[in-house]
Amino acid sequence: MKVISTVFELQSWLKRMRLSPIGFVPTMGALHEGHLSLVSNAVQHCPVVVVSIFVNPTQFNDKNDLKNYPRTPESDLLLLSKVMRESDLVFLPGVKEIYPEPDTREFHFGNLEKVMEALHRPGHFNGVAQVVSRLFEIVNPDIAFFGLKDFQQLAVIKSLVKQTGNKVMIIGNPIVREEDGLAMSSRNRLLDHEIRLNASIIFKTISAASAMLKEHDIPEIKSFIVQSIDKVQGYSVEYFEIVDDINLLPVSSKAEMMKDKRYFGCIAVQAGKIRLIDNIEIGLV
Ligand code: PAJ
Repeated sequence: MKVISTVFELQSWLKRMRLSPIGFVPTMGALHEGHLSLVSNAVQHCPVVVVSIFVNPTQFNDKNDLKNYPRTPESDLLLLSKVMRESDLVFLPGVKEIYPEPDTREFHFGNLEKVMEALHRPGHFNGVAQVVSRLFEIVNPDIAFFGLKDFQQLAVIKSLVKQTGNKVMIIGNPIVREEDGLAMSSRNRLLDHEIRLNASIIFKTISAASAMLKEHDIPEIKSFIVQSIDKVQGYSVEYFEIVDDINLLPVSSKAEMMKDKRYFGCIAVQAGKIRLIDNIEIGLV
């Protein structure tokens, strides 16, 4: 694979290659098996794949989070070299390359900006939309791969693509988990040892939601989840919502759930100093 840091070089390379479809996997680095599953999927479907590694400052609503975000470029390149081919590209731009001028664009996502992550991380999705639309402009991919781990982000990207009339196809990939069930995340490496030891509580607890629906309604399920996690030292649930997968409208009772829709239980948890998110499909029974 080739490693490139300017838009000019990237576009000249893609023009020279003339291969299609162009697959694209945007990331912020500190790569793990979750990212690599997206890259492998892209490699399987596209003769040329671009992976970007760019810690996008505009999507961080918390300055400390941006400062502490793990940056591991050497090991990222090593991991990518194991799954990428000669024809593929890693794009490692600096901030000026992505934002020659400060980006002041404002995006709107209807209900998607009124729930869950949007409420707890104001401005976050606007920053994601800025960087992803800019990267789409630069790479001009045919297919872009995102993880279901960031469930609301995936819905936001689909809405962005619809709004801008871009022809890129968006593929959502399943969540890759650690052996104990913790969803892989670049932030997991920042967890304190004691906190990490108990992190399986999140997946274990949300996994119980579907079965609980048989005999309990949503408010009881929510309190079960909040209580089970909050009683673990250092853990505190920020929200747990059951939402449909299109508009992400939270449902407050089983009676509101429709047979022809898919529902996901989405959670954000403060785990020590680190904020973690996860989700699971909720089957109607
Ligand atoms: P980042 O957190 O690096 O994630 C890059 C992609 O990997 C996202 O699509 C994310 O959903 C996916 N991903 C992360 N962990 C995963 C896991 N355990 N299983 C499956 N997929 C996983 O998301 C971002 O970066 C940024 O917001 C970005 C889209 C790059 C814009 O800056």
